[in-house]
Amino acid sequence: MTYHTSTQERPIDIINVAALEEKVKVNMEPGAFGYLAGGAESEITLRANVTSFEHKKVLPRVLQNVENPDLRTSLFGIELSAPIIAAPIAAHGLVHEQAEKDTVQGVGAAGTIFSLSTYGNATVDEVAQASPETPKFFQLYMSKDDDFNHWILDKAVADGYKAIVLTADSTLGGYRESDIIHNFTFPLPMKNLAEWASKTAGNERGEGEGIAAIYAKAKQKLSLKDIKAIKDYTHLPVLVKGVQSADDIEDLIQAGADGIWVSNHGGRQLDGAPASFDNLEDIAKVVDKRVPIVFDSGVRRGQHIFKALASGADVVAIGRPMLWGLNLGGIQGVTDVFNHFKKELTIDMQLTGSQTVEDIKKAKLVDAK
Ligand code: FNR
Ligand code: LAC
Repeated sequence: MTYHTSTQERPIDIINVAALEEKVKVNMEPGAFGYLAGGAESEITLRANVTSFEHKKVLPRVLQNVENPDLRTSLFGIELSAPIIAAPIAAHGLVHEQAEKDTVQGVGAAGTIFSLSTYGNATVDEVAQASPETPKFFQLYMSKDDDFNHWILDKAVADGYKAIVLTADSTLGGYRESDIIHNFTFPLPMKNLAEWASKTAGNERGEGEGIAAIYAKAKQKLSLKDIKAIKDYTHLPVLVKGVQSADDIEDLIQAGADGIWVSNHGGRQLDGAPASFDNLEDIAKVVDKRVPIVFDSGVRRGQHIFKALASGADVVAIGRPMLWGLNLGGIQGVTDVFNHFKKELTIDMQLTGSQTVEDIKKAKLVDAK
């Protein structure tokens, strides 16, 4: 059965980012929407990811001589228009016919980094060709088959991807009730898996399978040694994504992690885990600026970005809202979402007396009473 999705290519009106989700819901089949929106089990962590930003308040400073706040920053020497990058998300084809080929262009037009998932609906090469100038990370779900791992990492290196994101929180799928209720399976091939399958006469294409089955075929026995193995093989920086505990930091840094990606996968993995924002401050204290910190999960406001940076993150990654923009407006929709976050963050910086991103990092947060 043909899967129908958006072909929109237009600017989108954004009052606030969270309100876009309802507009997308009416555009999508219930199973596909549930896969995008859903979290694990009772979705306690999914909800907490957003509400947790209320746990801290920003204490504005006055007479700080601030005008036209400067959002620019950099990550691994890559100049960014703002401390906001794209989180890796599987299967953009669920929300738009052009899939990651549109998303990467929209993110590039927003002046930041695109992250391609192993489980994308476009290949490493297709995304690189769609937007050669956009800086890109490649997010690796390690396979049990090292030949696959080496093959896809070779492609990422050859296509100029700037870093590898090793996702460490998904060695099995979270218990996602929406996918079970809708018996959701991916309607389109995961193009990297399909390319490998055609090369090796395999049959793993992702299409017709649910994420739980796909995860089960990936590598469960991830270990600290994998960080160095990927670094030695690619000679690229390796960020470890899905870090929730400060107790992991010393091991990760000693094992060679070049970046820590604080995330709980948008509440899709272990329900009942803390909100990602509630883990950030303790993790940042242990990292102690030795490597950059990327933060994601639940970011829906410029103020959330402000609070994450003031709590120790260097940049914030956007997940679901990026795909809402893709569904509603294609390339321009993605750019409009990132630009809306910048608009809100600019106001927050002006009103708190923060001229630069470094000023945000020094801003004082107080516990909500
Ligand atoms: C994800 N995420 C994810 N992460 C990853 O490392 N590889 C992947 O392929 C995916 N796929 C994926 C699909 C969908 C539909 C969602 C919603 C999320 C997790 C993603 O990178 C990020 O951690 C969360 O999306 C952040 O939470 P918010 O911003 O979506 O609330
Ligand atoms: C998910 C995987 C693909 O969250 O990361 O669905």
